[in-house]
Amino acid sequence: MRSIVTGGAGFLGSHLCDLLLEKGHDVICIDNLVTGNARNIAHINSDSFTYLKHDITRPIYFGDKIDYIFHLASPASPVDYLELPIQTLKVGALGTYNMLGLAKEKRARLLIASTSEVYGDPQVNPQPETYWGNVNPIGPRGVYDEAKRYAEAITMAYHRYHGIDTRIVRIFNTYGPRMRANDGRVVPNFINQALKGEDITVYGDGSQTRSFCYVSDLIDGIYRLMMSDFTDPVNIGNPAEMTVLEFARSIIEITGSKSKLVHRDLPVDDPKVRRPDISKAKEILGWEPKIALEEGLRNTLEYFMSMRSEL
Ligand SMILES: NC(=O)c1ccc[n+]([C@@H]2O[C@H](COP(=O)([O-])OP(=O)(O)OC[C@H]3O[C@@H](n4cnc5c(N)ncnc54)[C@H](O)[C@@H]3O)[C@@H](O)[C@H]2O)c1
Repeated sequence: MRSIVTGGAGFLGSHLCDLLLEKGHDVICIDNLVTGNARNIAHINSDSFTYLKHDITRPIYFGDKIDYIFHLASPASPVDYLELPIQTLKVGALGTYNMLGLAKEKRARLLIASTSEVYGDPQVNPQPETYWGNVNPIGPRGVYDEAKRYAEAITMAYHRYHGIDTRIVRIFNTYGPRMRANDGRVVPNFINQALKGEDITVYGDGSQTRSFCYVSDLIDGIYRLMMSDFTDPVNIGNPAEMTVLEFARSIIEITGSKSKLVHRDLPVDDPKVRRPDISKAKEILGWEPKIALEEGLRNTLEYFMSMRSEL
């Protein structure tokens, strides 16, 4: 089996490369390192692994057969996509278009990494796949949400019109080793602030909810979905919902930090609730998360501590 992973030098992509190699795939990792880091794949020492530095908004051709394309490339944290709005829209649109073209030529199966952000600031909680969302298309976050909504739409169009074998995973907040310390997402933010003894910045009053999935659970879900025969979107995430304030307190407890909580203004269009309905993943993939928050946070903390000099 030969698989492509776009965004393979990023947080999730690098863990997916590891899993695919373990499963015996030949893996081609394509990444332009705009938000990823070669350090995430530096440990891979295998003849079955190739890294190509390439921006997938430009076409790419391969002579050999390709069986699976896992399309994960995209800035993913709010800090990144607010800094890179055009690149985010381009990779969701042109990048997905190029990967669909490649899938069509190779008769390969393609999975796209979509997101819970397609539900925007949801008016339904938990969010099932049938919910169409509440997205502000012209707000600052719209660049990411709409890029992913477009990516889903063009993927379904290729599936229906060209008969391409496609999968769509809607990923909910995921955390773990190899997240960038400064990527602005709540888990690395809080852990780093706690480790440095700095104030922990909670946006708003902290009553907004999130649910956090550990990376190994998420990657297992992505792999199962790719190997299934299910072509509609599937939520993968951890349904254990907590407020951001509760989460900040768990971080202080686990790190034993003396950090204090401080409140800052809520970002524009920040979702008030976020929790996946994973009935479909359970039923179709036999998947549900296994790693409890405390265990996942300890692993993540260990990673951040080991990388402290570099981060
Ligand atoms: N981590 C999460 O909680 C989460 C949640 C929902 C969706 N997702 C989706 O999962 C995917 C991976 O996210 P992540 O958290 O690993 O982010 P990440 O930023 O660590 O990884 C994304 C990778 O894509 C690469 N990339 C971006 N644009 C590219 C381009 N034009 N050409 C080639 N490579 C490009 C980056 O360099 C980076 O290595 C993204 O599509 C993201 O939208 C992630």
